[in-house]
Amino acid sequence: MTADEMTRVLADGNTLPLLGLGVWQVPDGRGCVDAVLWALEAGYRHIDTAQAYRNEASVGKALKESGLARDEVFVTTKFFPRGDDPVRAAEESLRKLGLDQVDLYLVHWPQGGPTWAWPGMERAAELGYARSIGVSNFDEAELASVAEIATRMPVANQVDFSPFSFRRALHDTCEKMNIALEAYSPLGTGRHLTDATVAAIATEAGRTPAQVLLRWAVQRGIPVIPKSVNRERIRQNAQIFDFELPAEAMARLDALDLTGGTGSAREGKWW
Ligand code: A2P
Repeated sequence: MTADEMTRVLADGNTLPLLGLGVWQVPDGRGCVDAVLWALEAGYRHIDTAQAYRNEASVGKALKESGLARDEVFVTTKFFPRGDDPVRAAEESLRKLGLDQVDLYLVHWPQGGPTWAWPGMERAAELGYARSIGVSNFDEAELASVAEIATRMPVANQVDFSPFSFRRALHDTCEKMNIALEAYSPLGTGRHLTDATVAAIATEAGRTPAQVLLRWAVQRGIPVIPKSVNRERIRQNAQIFDFELPAEAMARLDALDLTGGTGSAREGKWW
């Protein structure tokens, strides 16, 4: 597997590894530190956290304990958009993470409208707090609104994405805008692992359902951030670059979409 097949170069030139560990719903503490350490041991070089997850300190502890050089690991955090200042919030994140800079800083969701936080995100990048900046849970219209006021465009939009949430219109729009769509909940928070089609394709491929779901995304160049706190599953989820799904299996997975190929980022909104 070449580096090109395991990474995506973002519009600003930074390189995002396609596989990351997501730590949503992982409580701060030893369990989170261990999950991140196990991921780094298993070869992950991308960790995805957020201010709202309240576990940045554990992520930072694991990064330190791993002994890896700072530039070897891509670290994402997200601005909690109920606060008012992305710059001050970034300073707090960096303090908790024990870092001088994150690799990617995202507006976690478009609460209060899609544009108000963006100038602060740009300022955070200018100050060197983030190498790249982007958004999460933004639909097509919200991306267009940001584009109108941006001095510096978002380079990523992290959304709920899997064969069951195959937001084709949103993905196409992101590609046209040179915004990397990142897939969160690539396993449907575990729900999709027992689907009969996914299970059948896994059997045919001699792989697990999780590997099939993750491979479906990375085979399209879409970054995935599966969450796991289990060492064996963390390892398993990394074994997705040594096989290929045939076009016919990809098509069967595509057909599982329940969103009608939407340009929307979420069906239910919490904000
Ligand atoms: P656990 O943390 O106990 O491994 P998503 O990434 O879509 O949010 O899905 C995460 C959920 O899927 C978690 O409940 C996680 O549980 C579970 N999970 C992650 N990887 C696997 C796997 N390879 N096999 C089975 N369940 C998994």
